[in-house]
Amino acid sequence: MSDQNSLLTPNSLQEEEPVERTLRPETLKEYVGQQNLKDSLSIALQAAKERGSSLDHVLLYGPPGLGKTSLAHIIAKEMGTTIRITSGPAISKAGDLAAILTGLQPGDILFIDEVHRLQRTVEEVLYPAMEDHCLDIILGKGPSARSIRMDLPAFTLVGATTRAGSLSQPLRDRFGHIHRLEYYEDDELARILRRSSDLLGMRVTDTALAHIAGRSRKTPRIANRLLRRVRDYGQVKRLTEITENDAEKALNRLHIDRLGLDITDHLLITTMHTHFQDGPVGLDTLAAATGEEAETIEDVIEPYLLRIGFLSRTPRGRVLTENAKRHFGFPLSLV
Ligand SMILES: Nc1ncnc2c1ncn2[C@@H]1O[C@H](COP(=O)(O)OP(=O)(O)OP(=O)(O)O)[C@@H](O)[C@H]1O
Ligand SMILES: [Mg+2]
Repeated sequence: MSDQNSLLTPNSLQEEEPVERTLRPETLKEYVGQQNLKDSLSIALQAAKERGSSLDHVLLYGPPGLGKTSLAHIIAKEMGTTIRITSGPAISKAGDLAAILTGLQPGDILFIDEVHRLQRTVEEVLYPAMEDHCLDIILGKGPSARSIRMDLPAFTLVGATTRAGSLSQPLRDRFGHIHRLEYYEDDELARILRRSSDLLGMRVTDTALAHIAGRSRKTPRIANRLLRRVRDYGQVKRLTEITENDAEKALNRLHIDRLGLDITDHLLITTMHTHFQDGPVGLDTLAAATGEEAETIEDVIEPYLLRIGFLSRTPRGRVLTENAKRHFGFPLSLV
């Protein structure tokens, strides 16, 4: 993706990691929104703590940048335990996972990001580990091979994925808590931005924060990223306080419209209109016509357009909605 696109990508950019760490909420109280999830999680946490047992395994799924990793850290902190972090693609062999599991302390949180990308042979090691806290080790090969069972400390697996549909059913069934993260409301994003701007030592008005929130594609990671761009603008212009007008000027320069749509969204939507009469059009055809990867369209561009009701998915392909046509000034369908 080009730089322009990366501004609105919900995926984490490599250079952002240090700043993301400083802005990460540390407790459930600081974690804004996702109320249903927080309610059920805090009951589960309290119950586990009262029993002195480890929390049941947790699966967190939802689009990038909505707070899955943050939540995994919060779970460890609330349980007063240590978090060990790895990811599906990082574990290449069953033996790697066995080594991680045997190194855990009782009560530890094992966080596996992109858990849908675990290999099948690795996944099979997880099943008995999750279910019975044990490891089956095969010694030798061929007819003389035998298996021994090794006990593991009680641990909690927290799995995160942006693609719950790609998770195998046996793995999914072994999670006691399955939570889907939702996109954020603008007022929730504004609260996140208030906290972030305080941490970054910025002076910024409420209306400026609301303005940034409105262009953040319902995603905290993007909100924090835009805030930092606005901070740059404020610094260069020597502003003592950032107002809505300043925020608007800063974001207009970045070619993000008031709904948080950028050039890539515009290209996708205008292509659907001019080449495909507003749809339906299939994903691969759309990818070929716009020059974007089908996966990028599906995972990065489209979820937000679906969320704001600009696209709908039908069995015959993607269709532009009346809302999208109105926003872009295309002729509306005759009824
Ligand atoms: N509920 C929240 N309250 C406050 N800040 C949040 C919240 N959720 C996310 N953030 C902010 O957004 C950033 C990205 O969140 P996080 O890394 O947890 O997302 P993620 O779902 O793990 O994304 P990915 O799918 O890319 O791994 C965090 O650094 C944090 O600052
Ligand atoms: Mg993450």
